[in-house]
Amino acid sequence: MIGVFDSGFGGLTILKAFLEDLPDYDYLYLGDSARTPYGNKSLKVVYEYTRQAVEFLFHEGATLIILACNTASAKALRRIQQEWLPLHYPLRRVLGVAIPLAEAAVAASRYGRIGVIGTRATIESRVYEQELHKLEPRLRIYGQACPLLVPLVEEDWVGRPETTMILKKYLRPLKSTKIDTLILGCTHYPFLKKDIARIMGKNCHVLDAPGIVSAKLADYLKRHPEIETKLLRKGRRAFYTTDDPDRFQAFGEKFLGEKISGVQAVSL
Ligand code: DGL
Repeated sequence: MIGVFDSGFGGLTILKAFLEDLPDYDYLYLGDSARTPYGNKSLKVVYEYTRQAVEFLFHEGATLIILACNTASAKALRRIQQEWLPLHYPLRRVLGVAIPLAEAAVAASRYGRIGVIGTRATIESRVYEQELHKLEPRLRIYGQACPLLVPLVEEDWVGRPETTMILKKYLRPLKSTKIDTLILGCTHYPFLKKDIARIMGKNCHVLDAPGIVSAKLADYLKRHPEIETKLLRKGRRAFYTTDDPDRFQAFGEKFLGEKISGVQAVSL
């Protein structure tokens, strides 16, 4: 099975793309809604929460886990891959979203000027800068933390004048740097993509994060038959939350754009 982890509901934007592009596989989704948001938590806490989530998904039968959460990808992925996985689950894999998005940004960028927006934790980790510079050291990279955007999306304030005003405030400094490509480095931002693209203007390419992560997953599965052949392909989906399952279902259906059922409450 493919496990998808997020700090809450946001990762369902990534799962949605997986279900559209790779519908046959079995998926387990875990949202740590009881402890969300991760975006303003410390390295130590995000690592520990993410490690617990990964352990849970492996225990439930995942062979491969995607950390859909940018904050978890930024703050916990490398340590999990390098220190924890080899000791506990050497034959299983955990992947994140930063490398796929960095690769797509380098491919899309015309003038090597790339912007990244995300939670405070993601931007402060400088993970995108590191991954982008590994691919192309001459890039100019501009990061902007946008901590108010996650609650605005969760409150369903997309398209309201207040949200547009806040978006403009965050994006204006980036726009003035003349970036040609923008990475939406947070699970929730696809909901704001149209507004972001309008504010950034036609000279800035705003990347479609879920589509990119999904295409990279398809490519990974082609290149790694030792993992792919272990995945079940019965089209089953299971949803777990650390908070109220009814609330998860209501929010989840909005994020996923389809009905979900049988959400189970778990503690990590
Ligand atoms: N899922 C988080 C991310 O992509 C956003 C929500 C949070 O702060 O936990 O960074």
